[in-house]
Parts: sequence; structure tokens; C-alpha cells
Amino acid sequence: MRVVCLISGDGSNLQALIDWQIKGLLGDAEIVGVVSNKAQAFGLERAKRANIATTVLSHERYPDRCQFDRALISVIDNYEADLIVLAGFMRILTAQFVNHYANRLVNVHPSLLPKYKGLNTHRRAIEAGDSAAGATVHWVTEELDSGGIIRQAEVPIYAHDSEESLRQRVLEAEHSLYPAVIRDLSLGVVAC
Ligand code: GRF
Repeated sequence: MRVVCLISGDGSNLQALIDWQIKGLLGDAEIVGVVSNKAQAFGLERAKRANIATTVLSHERYPDRCQFDRALISVIDNYEADLIVLAGFMRILTAQFVNHYANRLVNVHPSLLPKYKGLNTHRRAIEAGDSAAGATVHWVTEELDSGGIIRQAEVPIYAHDSEESLRQRVLEAEHSLYPAVIRDLSLGVVAC
């Protein structure tokens, strides 16, 4: 299963996927390309260190979202991707893009969906007085953070937690959740 990861920033989830791949733990999945909309994204360095092909496609070079997404489709399709993995890709995707990759596009979101779609998930969970937070891997559909849930990982929220301490705990959970889901998708353990 040829996997293309889309990133915009640090790429710690990408690193987790690369680490599993290097250890032979990613099933039949192989990361064949990493695409970033930001030239400065550190995740690009992580990919290069692992000898994975990279492409930078700056959204600033396109007049609108539709034209950017069209260019993005062409980059991804050149990698002959079977699965597109959003790993901190900070762009809202058009319906045209999402439909092109129906059932081939997954995301990790830092909350226990359907709670806290969108931004500031950790702050909202703390402010609500929740005792647990977590991460969700889900299919991507037209509506933001609303596609079918594939798997979730839960972590506790402690009384002394700050937004940052909770963010770290959730991110750590993502780092084993996401590769395990990609492995299982590649092995057909989770239906596509
Ligand atoms: C993570 O919090 C993930 O849940 C969200 O974007 C962030 C990506 O972090 N979708 P990283 O770039 O993988 O470190």
C-alpha cells in the first residue's frame, strides 16, 4: 500500500510512521512520498533523513483553494498513492479533493471525536472539566472532522494539567495510534 503523507509542520506523527516502517512494523504500507505546503516544515527533514521523496507545494502560489487542491491532486497522483495520510496538514480541503480520494484519505485529530472538532481541542476539554481526552483517526469527508471513526486512543486529564501538558500526552498517544491504524489498513484488518 503506497502511502503519501501530507504535512505542514513538525511532523512528529510522520516520524512515528517512519520509525515503524524502519522497524518493519508498518505491515504492507510504505511511505513513498511526503508533501508539505510549507517549505520550512521540519517534517521535510525527517523524510529526507529516511530517504523518502518530498515535494513542497506552497498554497501561496495559487489564486484559490480549488486551484491549489487541483495541483495537490496531481502531485499525490504522481506518487501513485493508495492511501493519503494527513499528518498535521493545516489546510482545509475542498470537496473536489476529498471526493477524489474517497475512502483513501485519513486524518488524526487531537480529541475524542465527535467532541471538540476544529481547533483548541485541549483547552476546550480542560475548560469543560473532562476527565479524559485523546486522539481519533478517522476517514476524511467534506465536513470537517466528521468522517467515520476508525480508532481512538484515550488519555487521562489530571487536575494540574495545562493545555501544553495535555497536548504532549495526546500527541504521544497519537504516535502509537496512527502507525497501528495505517498498519492495520494495509493488512486489511480495518476495512477501507
Ligand atoms: C497533531 O496534534 C495532530 O493531532 C493534528 O496536527 C498535529 C500534528 O503534529 N492533526 P505533528 O506535525 O505530527 O507533530
